[in-house]
Amino acid sequence: MDRKTIGIVLGGVTGRMGYRQHLVRSLLAIREAGGLPLRDGSLLWPEPVLVGRDDAKLRAIAQRHGLTEWTTDLGAALARPDVEIYFDAQVTNAREKAIRAAVAAGKHIYTEKPTAGDLAGAVELAKLADAAGVKHGVVQDKLFLPGLRKLDRLVKGGFFGRILSVRGEFGYWVFEGDWQPAQRPSWNYRTADGGGITVDMFPHWHYLLEQIFAPVRAVTAHVTTHIPRRWDEAGRPYEATADDAAYGIFELDGGIVAQVNSSWAVRVYRDELVEFQVDGTEGSAVAGLRDCRVQHRSMTPKPVWNPDLPATERFREQWQVVPDNEEFRNGFLEQWELFLRHVVEDAPYSWDLWAGARGVQLAELGRRSAREGRRFAVPELEA
Ligand SMILES: NC(=O)c1ccc[n+]([C@@H]2O[C@H](COP(=O)([O-])OP(=O)(O)OC[C@H]3O[C@@H](n4cnc5c(N)ncnc54)[C@H](O)[C@@H]3O)[C@@H](O)[C@H]2O)c1
Repeated sequence: MDRKTIGIVLGGVTGRMGYRQHLVRSLLAIREAGGLPLRDGSLLWPEPVLVGRDDAKLRAIAQRHGLTEWTTDLGAALARPDVEIYFDAQVTNAREKAIRAAVAAGKHIYTEKPTAGDLAGAVELAKLADAAGVKHGVVQDKLFLPGLRKLDRLVKGGFFGRILSVRGEFGYWVFEGDWQPAQRPSWNYRTADGGGITVDMFPHWHYLLEQIFAPVRAVTAHVTTHIPRRWDEAGRPYEATADDAAYGIFELDGGIVAQVNSSWAVRVYRDELVEFQVDGTEGSAVAGLRDCRVQHRSMTPKPVWNPDLPATERFREQWQVVPDNEEFRNGFLEQWELFLRHVVEDAPYSWDLWAGARGVQLAELGRRSAREGRRFAVPELEA
């Protein structure tokens, strides 16, 4: 079968996301499947060009996976005529500069979120990419989680009636790093390095709310740093300057109120690391990463508040499990396939740098809301 090769520069490929989800579970998975089948009957073959700061680490990854292309020189990688896409999974504050260089080199852009450190930077990237006529996409992986796909199916199928509210609970205990090593990179806890849970998670909440429910029109948030001192990868103590918890209230079109707690200083008493409860006039659902449960209005119990008596009902057992009804694949892989088709076949792809900028906007307004103790309307972005 005819095979077309597409060169993809990967920045940040030594990192957690860049290596595991984007290289191994997405691009190499496409190669293992023989390539991505295209409409014209040919197969698209991604050829990663690994870029980073440490030649030895890049070489080790390349050799482990039988790859031949790597360099510490981003400019040289972007100058290659066989490269069509630049992908970025670097630490957040290194992203803007690399994407600007890639746009200037005429490459299509695919990137992790948040797309930039602030709204001005994120809008600028979207404008530059539009002006250069390159295609652009931003990772919105949570939309592909099985639990949230099922939730989306319920919304589209009209299960809820009028949706009233959404309550999200995200987080787990991230160890401080002294007596047990931290399970997340230390830059996430330093503002100067682009860290902070608001800037990390609000972009996710933005696309989930916007795409499953309705556009976000206003935000009120309380943002804080519960754990002010942590220990880094080398065991050195550092001041945690970035926020590690963000408590947000988002007002959506249609009067829907979404409250989402995000915290790296919380212990899990839930079934999953993220869960959303949605209440509507006709029914309710609780969705996590994988599972989704529902309770229809016809099955809703009628508890009566009486603190003198023990609970008489097993409330958790009154919910029904939503069946899969389809096979769920890795969300990062699915999005890569869609973006590659967007680039080579002009297939539609709506999660672009403007969508990314709206996520950064919500984070910025959330932080401002917390700083100033005010509620902020979310203005439309001007293209
Ligand atoms: N979509 C998701 O679910 C998701 C989850 C986690 C992280 N992320 C995003 O992915 C990005 C990477 O996060 P991660 O958890 O993989 O981090 P990580 O620390 O594991 O990886 C960061 C990468 O950037 C490189 N890097 C570090 N400092 C750099 C610098 N100063 N200049 C250039 N490169 C540098 C590292 O070498 C590494 O390759 C972040 O922007 C983060 O917001 C997304």
